[in-house]
Amino acid sequence: MRKVLITGSLGQIGTELTMKLRELYGNNNVVASDLVAKEGFEEIIQSGPFEVVDVINANQIAEVVKKHNINTIVHLAAILSAVGEQKPQLAWNVNMNGLYNVLEVAREEGCSVFTPSSIAAFGDSTPKDNTPQDTIQRPNTMYGVTKVAGELLCDYYFHRFGVDTRGVRFPGLISYKALPGGGTTDYAVHIYYEALKNKKYTSFIAKGTKMDMMYMPDAINAIIQLMEADGSKLKHRNAFNIAAMSFDPEEIAAAIRKYIPEFELDYDVDPVRQAIAESWPNSLDDSAAREEWGWNPKYDLDAMTKDMLEKLRIKLGL
Ligand code: NAD
Ligand code: SER
Repeated sequence: MRKVLITGSLGQIGTELTMKLRELYGNNNVVASDLVAKEGFEEIIQSGPFEVVDVINANQIAEVVKKHNINTIVHLAAILSAVGEQKPQLAWNVNMNGLYNVLEVAREEGCSVFTPSSIAAFGDSTPKDNTPQDTIQRPNTMYGVTKVAGELLCDYYFHRFGVDTRGVRFPGLISYKALPGGGTTDYAVHIYYEALKNKKYTSFIAKGTKMDMMYMPDAINAIIQLMEADGSKLKHRNAFNIAAMSFDPEEIAAAIRKYIPEFELDYDVDPVRQAIAESWPNSLDDSAAREEWGWNPKYDLDAMTKDMLEKLRIKLGL
């Protein structure tokens, strides 16, 4: 039986993953953790064990792992791309030292580790379209640097110490439960809120800028499917390209107009986030994930838009 510790479990992915893993493995077998027990996250904090864990503090991670007999760590605590450019030193500290601490505890306590990488692990010199699984990785953001180093560190712990490390390169994730935590792809979440509330949105990402994106239910399935996959079939443990859809602001606006015809989109481009977006791929080749563990996403842009608008209407009481 899995006994799971999730770090950063009150973030965009963690809020949904925690509840799904509790459904699968039992509430008491999934320990949620974050820097503090934030208000508004009572469902997670009260439906199973919750611990305060700062991933910079290796002792805190080790104590919680021992206390709950944890055998699987899902490491989500991180600083994302846009905040990472505002606070590069913090991004290095949390993303690198946090991951190192998690891997060391996993090595000592015999845990497996799942941690996500990102499309941010690619850079300007990476082929932009149908970006291969194995290709040039020279990112120019602190977030991207930590993601490439993290992929390599996870590979190292697998080969050198036999820690069962696994990961995917997530594209921008779109969801309605928790707001995104300060990334470049966040516009593709905000646009749905603003379309419903004000019927207009001002995008900080420029017209024509394509990025890979994915709806949260597919992302959650990817984590569970890869965690449960037969390890002997995995050649690319850290980390698999996975893809579901790729669009620019005009295309997501057009999908929204099928439901809100009067929706208006204009632009006030943020040069920092625009430069980050331009350094990332337009679309990824995810054939390795499909071949090695059966990756097969369910949502395209239209299916996601229909579901997002339905769910957000209820959440916002509209
Ligand atoms: P998020 O920003 O929404 O949540 C991160 C959580 O980590 C927050 O709850 C925060 O309080 C917590 N945290 C920050 N510093 C911490 C520390 N020192 N100790 C413990 N917790 C700390 O992030 P997310 O979107 O849920 O992302 C989770 C992982 O997935 C990250 O590794 C991220 O790089 C990766 N990822 C996310 C996306 C996306 O679009 N959301 C895309 C690609 C990769
Ligand atoms: N959504 C993330 C970001 O924009 C991608 O890793 O930072």
